[in-house]
Amino acid sequence: MGSLQDFYRGKNIVITGASSGIGKDLALVFAGWGARLALSARRKELLDEVGVAAEKAGGEALVYPVDVTDRAAMQAMADDVLAKWGHVDIVIGNAGVGGLNPADRFDLDIHKRTYDINCMGLAYTLMPYIPSMIARKSGHLVGVSSLAAFRGRPNAASYSSAKSAQGVFLEAVRMDLRKHGIKVSAVHPGFVETPMTAHDEFNMPFKIGVRESSMLIARALKKAKPRFLYPWQMKWLVRFEGLLPCAAYDWLLPRVSGQRDDIRPRTL
Ligand SMILES: NC(=O)c1ccc[n+]([C@@H]2O[C@H](COP(=O)([O-])OP(=O)(O)OC[C@H]3O[C@@H](n4cnc5c(N)ncnc54)[C@H](OP(=O)(O)O)[C@@H]3O)[C@@H](O)[C@H]2O)c1
Repeated sequence: MGSLQDFYRGKNIVITGASSGIGKDLALVFAGWGARLALSARRKELLDEVGVAAEKAGGEALVYPVDVTDRAAMQAMADDVLAKWGHVDIVIGNAGVGGLNPADRFDLDIHKRTYDINCMGLAYTLMPYIPSMIARKSGHLVGVSSLAAFRGRPNAASYSSAKSAQGVFLEAVRMDLRKHGIKVSAVHPGFVETPMTAHDEFNMPFKIGVRESSMLIARALKKAKPRFLYPWQMKWLVRFEGLLPCAAYDWLLPRVSGQRDDIRPRTL
């Protein structure tokens, strides 16, 4: 077992959602270990800053101000990255939006947006790299889902079902690509301190810092874990919830989640 630095040094890594939060911190950590990075997000200024910080930390960085819902732009980004580097070792589809969408005030536009970014965006991110990975018989595709993926969450029909779709999508893709030597991982974070969780609309037990999250993800990807749930306290809570019958789940979750009654539909 070599060190994380030995493992990631010189690796070609694509990260979406790299302007902020989990994606930004992963970029800085991988850069510090000498990785080559292709970073994307919509907010160009923030992304440029991350690119500069990544190069200062010791990595190389290409930046692409691209919306993950723009299929043609995501394909063009992949074409450019592959033309420049020849191959990609790891693609991390991390871009995502959270969201609240209470079913008694359901907003179909927010629902569609949540699916477009989290689900279609993940497919537009990963799929362009598959042909070159098949040709090399290697590569690692990663999607950042959530611990909200395993049961419906109060006021989060859009978010939890989109995250669930991501997890199931990644599992099916994993099976299909195994014979080609391509690894696939679904990462399921609990609560991590990022701009997405910088609000008090509901309780966030066992919230961890973003650097701790990056180190946990880096270790899990090195082991090519097919499914990675963290932090461990939340993983066990989610496993416990999974055992509850519907009546008990429906009674318990709204009480422990600490949500107000006046929540309005919105993305986070
Ligand atoms: N933080 C948590 O507690 C938590 C828990 C479970 C799962 N997650 C998941 O982790 C991932 C990262 O979240 P985070 O907490 O780091 O949130 P964040 O700080 O809000 O970052 C989200 C990132 O996604 C990018 N993004 C959003 N919409 C995009 C679009 N249409 N096109 C391209 N990029 C887009 C944002 O960049 P631009 O706005 O610049 O485009 C930003 O870089 C998400 O998939 C989220 O669902 C987070």
